[in-house]
Amino acid sequence: MSAKIIDGKAFSQTVRDAVARDVTTLKDKHGITPGLAVVIVGEDPASQVYVRNKVKQTAESGMNGFHFEMPATASEEDVLNKVRELNADDRVNGILVQLPLPKHMDEAKVIETIAPEKDVDGFHVINTGLLATGGNAMVPCTPLGCIMMLKDTLGDLSGMKAIVVGRSNIVGKPMAQLLLDENCTVTIAHSRTKDLAAEVKAADIVVAAVGRPEMIKGDWIKDGATVIDVGINRIPAPERGDGKSRLVGDVDYEGAAQHAGAITPVPGGVGPMTIACLLRNTVTATCRQNG
Ligand code: GUN
Repeated sequence: MSAKIIDGKAFSQTVRDAVARDVTTLKDKHGITPGLAVVIVGEDPASQVYVRNKVKQTAESGMNGFHFEMPATASEEDVLNKVRELNADDRVNGILVQLPLPKHMDEAKVIETIAPEKDVDGFHVINTGLLATGGNAMVPCTPLGCIMMLKDTLGDLSGMKAIVVGRSNIVGKPMAQLLLDENCTVTIAHSRTKDLAAEVKAADIVVAAVGRPEMIKGDWIKDGATVIDVGINRIPAPERGDGKSRLVGDVDYEGAAQHAGAITPVPGGVGPMTIACLLRNTVTATCRQNG
């Protein structure tokens, strides 16, 4: 069997086109330009790449982007004050503080200081609570992108067996919740799961979000299953021998593609959907804030 490749790059373009149309309508019909503020603290190179892409795509969608760089030596109070300032700023509809933060800061405290209605990451306890209880939550961007791709590929997910490998607050837990909301029977697997291979083999839908390169082997995948690979792992130069690094997911792509019905590539799968969903969440937040 040769799997259909789920093209996240193309799908994200359709989401961004829809966002740009919504932004035009908000501007022309309501005189509102959505605004997204992105705060980065310190100089983590991966975070800088993510933030640069977020800022660029915010501008391309027609929204206002506000970009704040703070030094790694900033105090927690400096960051909290920046968040409070953005909470009070009517031009700002969405606030994203790029994680991870420097070690001397309490990430939870920073996230809980963001006004829940401006929390376009969906990380605030109000939003995680609303998601868990079926309310009107801001949904974290990566799981939102994954569920959109799954529904686009499979249609109705009702009754399907899904496994989420990984239990992070950012991806694993909200992903499991979204699959449950689609009436899947959901397993959450993690580092203490016994016989992970057998658990994966039973699933019609596999979402891999563990952050370990190619940990999920191709022959674990049930024939015809749909595989969503959230992992983005950089394999350093020496292993390639040609001086270049490469990106791989959490799934052994070549092996899994022999069994899966459909699979996301890395890169070009989940990654582009995350930023598209951030823009979409910013439009959603703007609409909710304006009644
Ligand atoms: N760091 C890695 N992914 C994310 C994300 O989705 N949001 C934020 N704020 N930080 C991140």
